[in-house]
Amino acid sequence: MPIFRHNSLWILETAASGYAFGLNPAGLLAHAYWGPRLPFPSDYPLPPNPAPWASFNGAGQLTPEEYATYAGPKYTDPSILLTLPDGVRDLVLTYEDEQIVPSPQPELHLHFRDAHYPVKLTLHYRLYEDCDLIERWVTLSNQGPEPLIISRLFSALWNLPPGDNYRLTHLTGRWLDEMHLRRDQLTHGIKTIESRRLTSSHHHAPWFAVDDGRATEDHGQVWFGGLAWSGNWKLAAEVTDFQSTRLNIGLNDWDFAWTLPPGESFTTPAAFAGITLAGFGAASRLLHDHIRDHILPHGKTLHKVLYNSWEATLFDVDEPSQTRLAEVAADMGIELFVMDDGWFHGRKDDHAGLGDWWPDEKKFPAGLAPLIERVNALGMDFGLWIEPEMVNPDSDLYRAHPDWVIHFPNRERSECRNQLILNFARPDVQEVVFSRIDKLLTDHNIVFIKWDMNRNVSEPGWPGAPGDQREIWVRYVQGLYAVWGRLAERHPRVIWQSCSGGGGRGDLGILRLADQIWVSDNTAATSRLAIQEGFSHIFPANVMEAWVTDAGKELIPLEFRFHVSMCGSLGIGGHLLHWSEADRALAAALIAQYKEIRPIIQFGDQYRLRSAQETACPAVLYLNKEKTEGVLFAFRILMQYPSTTPRLHLQGLIPNRQYQIEGFEQPRSGAAWMADGLQIDLNDLQSTLRRIKAVPS
Ligand code: DGJ
Repeated sequence: MPIFRHNSLWILETAASGYAFGLNPAGLLAHAYWGPRLPFPSDYPLPPNPAPWASFNGAGQLTPEEYATYAGPKYTDPSILLTLPDGVRDLVLTYEDEQIVPSPQPELHLHFRDAHYPVKLTLHYRLYEDCDLIERWVTLSNQGPEPLIISRLFSALWNLPPGDNYRLTHLTGRWLDEMHLRRDQLTHGIKTIESRRLTSSHHHAPWFAVDDGRATEDHGQVWFGGLAWSGNWKLAAEVTDFQSTRLNIGLNDWDFAWTLPPGESFTTPAAFAGITLAGFGAASRLLHDHIRDHILPHGKTLHKVLYNSWEATLFDVDEPSQTRLAEVAADMGIELFVMDDGWFHGRKDDHAGLGDWWPDEKKFPAGLAPLIERVNALGMDFGLWIEPEMVNPDSDLYRAHPDWVIHFPNRERSECRNQLILNFARPDVQEVVFSRIDKLLTDHNIVFIKWDMNRNVSEPGWPGAPGDQREIWVRYVQGLYAVWGRLAERHPRVIWQSCSGGGGRGDLGILRLADQIWVSDNTAATSRLAIQEGFSHIFPANVMEAWVTDAGKELIPLEFRFHVSMCGSLGIGGHLLHWSEADRALAAALIAQYKEIRPIIQFGDQYRLRSAQETACPAVLYLNKEKTEGVLFAFRILMQYPSTTPRLHLQGLIPNRQYQIEGFEQPRSGAAWMADGLQIDLNDLQSTLRRIKAVPS
């Protein structure tokens, strides 16, 4: 049984990791161990029970609490902050009982209540044994007769083994420039990364990795995790003065308050975390498997090669223009034709139309049906772009319901890209948006939807809110999940893509609804290599939608652009009518090749052999799970002359198995390809794709 009790400990074991905590003699739930799985239950240390440090720090200050309350003389960052009905603002937890649920995923629920007040707190744990991951969340219940106020309720506190010399790896960026890997030494105090933008954001991903400063891509102990939430979130990594490093993660408490009425509960989103002894690459592969096996709605479905109209026709979509593109796309072997922005009522440019989700009468006089039928007749599926959370002031929806947007009264409503945000916390808004999109999907043969969101929030008000307006941060996301979830349930064959001006909403929360993420609006292949690499720290290749576009075409060869996009879920976004016959023929050949190798890329294990964020010659390898077939991509961007392409060392092969690599005459053992490596010489802006096959034994 992966969850069991031993002495005063609860021990949680996955395939390779162990996690232990227990009630110490002082009655605090203290974290005891998180590392490689140990052979015997008696190997796990007892919950720590430190003495106070003089009169200035109580025992709680020195105890690595499993979930830190604010109570007594302790000043570490708490995981929960409440105001009880009589103004008391601390929480003194006493343990009540446990509940262990063996399947489908083993779960542990620990129930606590306050020593005096009718408040109940449950800590939840769920194990994903195969992926070495633990999921944690918290439920707070008000069992008293009066409301209480929550001002912070994080999902988990992750304690690292005693020490104050850790390094935090995280991903930062901005629109067009997402997913840069940063590594910061954690020093005494609190390092915070967060989103205050109503989405998980382009700026920081709700993800972390921590190591002792010595881990590399393929070596060393790494603790990693994140939050499955698509709104405001916060990670606070604290180093105390008592050699303790801990990470609180959960809903952002900035500008947050939640009134919890009598008899009601509040459940946080799930945090997840795991460990590996094999470096950052292994951490990513565990997450990739977790996402594919346990999170995605269609995690076992191979993604089709799609065409997207955006960069070709922008808002100028109409039946003839899209039909012409579709005909060329079908000839090249594309399987899914997606019409992007511009198709709906009044949408001439980005000043009008959002909210009015029916076909524009001038552009599509007979509706969308003729185009969809033509696309289907060409042998392709049809997909569509929508941005359901938004409204332009120039729209019928806004004219009818100007009060439906997020705003503060008596303040200007800041427009970004000429649009305002519908308040998805409101049930009436949810209902109207649901029924408009539901009708669209019911009336048409649409099997793919790109769900976009092109601005961040401002003036985050909710006039007329039933409770505290600051609940909007959470209720909005709950409303989004509810609308999207209902649509997904009613239209189960639709594959959804999450987009927010590129990678503004990539997180494990949205992946319960969307199978794909549009990584960035930056489609220049050379920039994209670095963005894709950052993205791969969290997400597997099948989630990563990657188009071949015309960006940089003067310099970057078409084959290079294809190879970059073939590292994910391949799409094409260039203006096909402007492509030469030779380019179309090359594209068709590469699309055919991608179809052969995509199971390895989309479902295999990814090895970042050389970093695009750190070097000019990045390389990435995908191996199938059996390690019998692989695909190697190597790129050279721009290097100073004179220079040679550095030698590549493969990873993940079976050492004593022979492998044949395209372009090399002699098969060699996996050990040789990994230890001695191989030389592939490339010129600037040249790339190569090499298939790898195990020699039949
Ligand atoms: C932002 C997206 O990231 C683009 O791909 C495109 O869909 C535009 N929005 C359309 O407005």
